[in-house]
Amino acid sequence: MNNHVQFPKGFRWGTATAAHQVEGNNINSDFWVLEHLPETIFVEPSGDAIDHYHRYAEDVAMLAELGFNHYRLSIEWARIEPEEGRFSPAVLDHYRRMLETCHQHSLKPVVTYHHFTSPRWLIGQGGWGKMETAEKFARYCTKATQHLGDLIEVACTLNEVNIPRMAALLWLSAGSGGPDRGKFMAQAAQAFHTTPERFAPFMFAGTPQGRNVILAAHHQSKAAIKAERPNLPVGLTIAMQDMQAVSGGEAVRDQMRQELQDVYLQAAREDDFVGIQTYSRERFGPDGRLDPEEGVELTQMGYEFWPEAIGATLRRARDVAGVPLIVTENGIGAEDDSRRLEYYQRALQSVAGCLRDGLDVRGYFAWSAFDNYEWMLGYRPTFGLIAVDRETQKRIVKPSARWLGAVARANGF
Ligand code: BGC
Repeated sequence: MNNHVQFPKGFRWGTATAAHQVEGNNINSDFWVLEHLPETIFVEPSGDAIDHYHRYAEDVAMLAELGFNHYRLSIEWARIEPEEGRFSPAVLDHYRRMLETCHQHSLKPVVTYHHFTSPRWLIGQGGWGKMETAEKFARYCTKATQHLGDLIEVACTLNEVNIPRMAALLWLSAGSGGPDRGKFMAQAAQAFHTTPERFAPFMFAGTPQGRNVILAAHHQSKAAIKAERPNLPVGLTIAMQDMQAVSGGEAVRDQMRQELQDVYLQAAREDDFVGIQTYSRERFGPDGRLDPEEGVELTQMGYEFWPEAIGATLRRARDVAGVPLIVTENGIGAEDDSRRLEYYQRALQSVAGCLRDGLDVRGYFAWSAFDNYEWMLGYRPTFGLIAVDRETQKRIVKPSARWLGAVARANGF
């Protein structure tokens, strides 16, 4: 086997999930409200999700059994602090049991403190459009770290700090929100007793002010976590596409990359690491973002099957942030599991190329452990290594899970 790829000793191998996408019945969160509006843009509500809240022990055992040595999960602010200033010891204990279960199975926990969802009460107060939110987020991080910190291996403050800005500049400007978006926004704002201009759940906080609040929240929460556990590695995660330019599109691409990636990578320069989350590439021409290239396979998400994007984005992050890197998400929404397998094989070759070139990549987390709730798109996209029958909640391991688990166990392939 002359093509064998060996990863560095201690390389972290894991899968990732986010609380709202797997736990079920996250009723005190902003998303729960949005999913149930008459004019909702969500294709279906999250409901029971995959009931990970109750089935985590079985799930964690399954991931360990497959061969992984880490698990990236998120804790839910809306559950831990369902009313402002009232923290739930029962929920904190729940997460403590969950993290203990990970350790019992030798899965080291990477914990994300915020993965898109926020408590309802926060949005009523102006959410991610108001600077006070940074402090409130840090206060929650202090509480959570006091209760759980000794069990956490790596901490991510906020997931994909750049996604609100990306949604505002790339996706919504292209009209992808659909014709009912205005109605939805008006109704949603009303549900939180605010105006559409001031309505700012995390994903909708796409203004420069939203960006400033989110980065302030990162800095303050990092300080809060470090105050409790100085040695815990803390970082943020960024949604990264391999931003390519066709001839003449270089200036547009550079400007987008500056605004949507570099600003955030620069904000991570003092951090212990930066989490890179990559799925595909994005092409730009002189007039802006381009549609997928003709002839290139598409994933269930409508973007290109482009596993090599991970290598390009790791290199970009190394150049701009200059801190250790962890691939905190990488994966594909595909019905045909053999496409997932090829995606992971090629993506890992790409990561291996980075390692050969001396990049400090410390881990790889597949998105996702399970088929789960893909936000506005509901349960249709299937990113999981493990399928879930949502009637019976039975878990079904896919071949790609066995392959990736074996890679993790062997620390190479
Ligand atoms: C997010 C996940 C999401 C995944 C696949 C990432 O942007 O962190 O929550 O499910 O992409 O679309």
